[in-house]
Amino acid sequence: MYTLDFTGKNVLITGAGSGLALETALVLADSGANIIGGDINTAGLDDMADKVTKMGVKAITQKTDVTKRTEVEALFATAKKEFGKLDIVINGAGIGPLSNLETTTEEEFRRIMDINLFGVEFGSRQALLAMKEQGYGTVLNFASIAAWVYPAINPHYAVSKMAVVSLTRQYAKYAAPMGIRFNIMCPGIIRTPMWEAGLESLHALTGRSKEDIWDETVTRAIPMGIPQEPIDIANAAVFLVSDKARYITGQSISVDGGQAMH
Ligand SMILES: NC(=O)c1ccc[n+]([C@@H]2O[C@H](COP(=O)([O-])OP(=O)(O)OC[C@H]3O[C@@H](n4cnc5c(N)ncnc54)[C@H](O)[C@@H]3O)[C@@H](O)[C@H]2O)c1
Repeated sequence: MYTLDFTGKNVLITGAGSGLALETALVLADSGANIIGGDINTAGLDDMADKVTKMGVKAITQKTDVTKRTEVEALFATAKKEFGKLDIVINGAGIGPLSNLETTTEEEFRRIMDINLFGVEFGSRQALLAMKEQGYGTVLNFASIAAWVYPAINPHYAVSKMAVVSLTRQYAKYAAPMGIRFNIMCPGIIRTPMWEAGLESLHALTGRSKEDIWDETVTRAIPMGIPQEPIDIANAAVFLVSDKARYITGQSISVDGGQAMH
């Protein structure tokens, strides 16, 4: 039987309080992994921990703002103290606000880069240092198809996500001789709280109903023309961090129903 078994593996996930990282945490826990989740959304983290614990594996949560290097370091320190070894790190926290090349302020752009790029950098650095000591490990960083399709509605988000692709590839090349893999997940369009916020903003801008905008987005932007679910991302993410993907590193995988092909 072909299975992905994570029994005894320890996984650190940022953004684990909601959406795609939460779904990935739940699939990994269901496959036997222990989870340590970091997020600013503590209610979401509590909910994640409840579900994970019921699956018979360990769940640890720690309020973590990924823009603060010391908080990310503290999250990794807790993982080391509680778990000892760290097999998998997933940097999933992110924001995706609409923006505009004429009006978006420097502060707004910096905020996007702080969370989406520096949050991933802090997590990648800590993962590298922990895994180098062990001589193994794998990291999955969340970027987006926005990196590849140059969307009009959120260009600054797209910049931050292309930067994540490049950063992750630097780590992948550097860490390959150490037995550490780094890959990139590029989700398509999934109606998580992040997209819900985007729909609210588009509704405020255009006056059109959120459902109208959503239906048009799914049917026009996604070649497969059907809505994508968080589980579609989790299934691919779990494969990439599994031993079955042991020879895959530095790759950016788009799971998006045919939008970005690169
Ligand atoms: N949903 C999509 O369509 C989509 C598409 C492409 C890429 N992505 C990427 O996938 C990842 C997950 O997105 P999602 O759709 O699940 O969104 P989400 O809003 O459901 O989850 C994001 C999580 O990140 C957390 N977060 C935000 N800022 C943080 C900070 N400073 N410190 C710690 N945690 C913070 C939030 O609290 C939230 O729990 C993000 O990196 C996003 O850019 C999502």
